[in-house]
Amino acid sequence: MNLKHAAASHLAALLPDPFGDADRLPAMLEYPAERGRGDVAFPCFALAKAMQQSPAVIARQLAEQLNARTAHFTAHADGPYVNFAFDRAYLAPSILQAASAEQFGQSKQREGRRIVIDLSSPNIAKPFGIGHLRSTMIGNAVANLLEQTGAETVRVNHIGDWGTQFGKMIAAYLRWADESRIAELGPIKAYLELYVKFHEEAKAAPALEDEARSWFHKLETGDEQALPLWRKFVDESMQEFNKLYSRLGVRFDHVLGESFYNDKMDDVTRELEAKGLLEESDGALVVRLDEYGLPPCLIVKSDGASIYATRDLATALYRHNAMGGDELLYVVGGEQALHFRQLFLVLAKLGYAWVEQCRHISFGLMKIEGRKMSTRKGKVVFLEEVLDEAVQHALSKIEQKNPDLPDKEQVAEAIGVGAVIFADLKNTRQLEVNFSLEDIVQFDGETGPYLQYTYARTRSLLAKALAGEKAAPAGRSAGGAGTDGESADPGSTAADAAPGYSCLSSDTSWELLTALLRYPEAVSLAADKAEPSVLAKYLLELARLFNRFYTHERVLAEHAPERLAKLRLTEAAGDTIRRGLAILGIETPEQI
Ligand code: ARG
Repeated sequence: MNLKHAAASHLAALLPDPFGDADRLPAMLEYPAERGRGDVAFPCFALAKAMQQSPAVIARQLAEQLNARTAHFTAHADGPYVNFAFDRAYLAPSILQAASAEQFGQSKQREGRRIVIDLSSPNIAKPFGIGHLRSTMIGNAVANLLEQTGAETVRVNHIGDWGTQFGKMIAAYLRWADESRIAELGPIKAYLELYVKFHEEAKAAPALEDEARSWFHKLETGDEQALPLWRKFVDESMQEFNKLYSRLGVRFDHVLGESFYNDKMDDVTRELEAKGLLEESDGALVVRLDEYGLPPCLIVKSDGASIYATRDLATALYRHNAMGGDELLYVVGGEQALHFRQLFLVLAKLGYAWVEQCRHISFGLMKIEGRKMSTRKGKVVFLEEVLDEAVQHALSKIEQKNPDLPDKEQVAEAIGVGAVIFADLKNTRQLEVNFSLEDIVQFDGETGPYLQYTYARTRSLLAKALAGEKAAPAGRSAGGAGTDGESADPGSTAADAAPGYSCLSSDTSWELLTALLRYPEAVSLAADKAEPSVLAKYLLELARLFNRFYTHERVLAEHAPERLAKLRLTEAAGDTIRRGLAILGIETPEQI
């Protein structure tokens, strides 16, 4: 329930069909941008034809009729609009009541839907770079958002553990691997060196490429020298990745390598063949996509090696059939847009109507202070190093600000990692991200630490109040902002405003209250658009309004009922920031 619904419930009975549909009406209402125009506005333009009157006349009549009903708002005609100004002191307790429920923001919109979401999906024997951070954190947030709206999610990490590059890795390893170097650098960096060396050497000695191809072929046929080496690469890489996942607080329902689909590929090729979709082209087998103006989708290479697209076809079938996915989402960088268009078109050509429920959730490149990535040349921005650096910045900030803070290291970890995640999520995902680590760990500005700091501020206010009350007990405890029996429905009739709540009628308090009430809308819109930035931006606005409230109002007021009302608002704002950040995958230390 929100103010639009409250207004709609009163308007519905006054409107002719089909406008009086209380379910559709809220979407016709607006939140006016300027103060003084009320809390919700109803534009009357669309009614003019049906009611044979000008929008302004309709607005005047509606306002009159609305005011004749006893309700907790006043209606004003403002040109072609009816503006609703709600009774602030009356609504405050029910808004706070709604916002303090642990399920605040959750809906049943996607109940019964099973959504398989492909996220993170790094490559074995390669570093976990910041590109995979985006897939991991956007994917995690999108999955959390979908769960908030009732979906059941299946989070799948599609590890890149197969392909011709493993032939190169084996060839390079057998030629040049140096155990002491591996011990010194750790396996991933050492393998990156080998991979780079392979590409350098192969320029002068093209025979190396043949050697790599033959190793990959051996691997595909289960060769007893190739297979254990490949397994070693996989195990060592997974150990490194798992360290990062635990730092990032991300979990998966399935971690399945691309190799898992090796025995499921022939079926795909046969099915394509049987449906007459395969064509030969320069010795390779392809599915033509000329009619869409796209290059053909390569299914089997001329040397018989299987490839990425074929594996993704087998994967999609598996996710739909075996995992029971009603919807398949792929959180993968924009550079693979063509791959996913081809994949979905081939599924459509195979006759699978469920391809309508497949989506590429694409995102832009991430750069840090202009550092560039190129795995082949060995220029990589390692996520681990980025996180470590951000945590260092956070630690030195804490040392300056609050040197006596207990658990400093832990708090710095939460802030540094949170800063990087928030910097990733706050912009529309399709945009390129470019930031400096120093900027994103600031406690002011549009940062994760700003939100964490704001949350900690709400906690310290509540703790102070609680300590004060212990010293001089006065009624209820501040932390127990529980039920007073008010209704969660701000439009309903309830008892008269509770004492003390009139102090929440000020503009600063009321704007914070109405912002709280918009949290469920932010969650649902972010879920619909698979766009965590909608929630991130909402939280920045909520924190801004809370901090304004904190600066303008004396939260720990003398008068006990007033203090209680303000503390409840403080607690609700803090809870909402905490819940929102948890959806984005960011921790909220109690004290900073
Ligand atoms: N491992 C791939 C890469 O790093 C991403 C895989 C994405 N998922 C998929 N089903 N294709 O580029």
